[in-house]
Amino acid sequence: LKIGVLASGRGSNFQAIIDEIEAGKIPAKIEILIVDNPNAYAIERAKKHGIPYLFINPKDFQSKEAFYEKIRDELLSKDVELVILAGFMRIVKKPLLDAFPNRIMNIHPALLPSFPGLHGQKQAVDYGVRISGCTVHFVDEGVDSGPIIIQAAVPVHPDDTEDSLSERILKLEHKIFPEAIRLFAEGRLKVEGRKVKILNYKLP
Ligand code: GRF
Repeated sequence: LKIGVLASGRGSNFQAIIDEIEAGKIPAKIEILIVDNPNAYAIERAKKHGIPYLFINPKDFQSKEAFYEKIRDELLSKDVELVILAGFMRIVKKPLLDAFPNRIMNIHPALLPSFPGLHGQKQAVDYGVRISGCTVHFVDEGVDSGPIIIQAAVPVHPDDTEDSLSERILKLEHKIFPEAIRLFAEGRLKVEGRKVKILNYKLP
């Protein structure tokens, strides 16, 4: 499976995916990393692992659509089959969505449909929920609204801060994102309407 990754920052999820692929656990290859931020630490990770990378500056484009047309064309030129949003801090627009229907995956640091958008962990702490977690989902035109693939839950402690909860959730992100990609690479995800069927799924 040929993968393209979009990232804006640290890239710890990107790293977790690289590690699982290098360990032979996902039948996939990362063809390209595209960043919208020239200082993204994800670039260092790509360099270290011999993954081609490209900075595409949103400011170079007249419109969001033109920016996403450029990203789409770069991904298509590498024959990418699955696009991974690994901390990509933008809403994906039509030119990219149309080229990859149910072939763009995102990770969100909350149990969707609760707490979509920015700062999912802070939203959970502020609301006072007792359980939160993370969600891997296919991307549609909404904000964190596409079909859910995998979720994992963590407790929220009464004295948790945004940081302490984020750290607990991140550990699980690094497990379920590669897991979702593995299921996709094995051809085991079938989208039916807004639901995702997992073929031959065994409870963990
Ligand atoms: C993660 O919390 C992820 O859930 C959110 O953005 C953050 C990215 O972290 N979408 P990293 O760049 O993968 O370390």
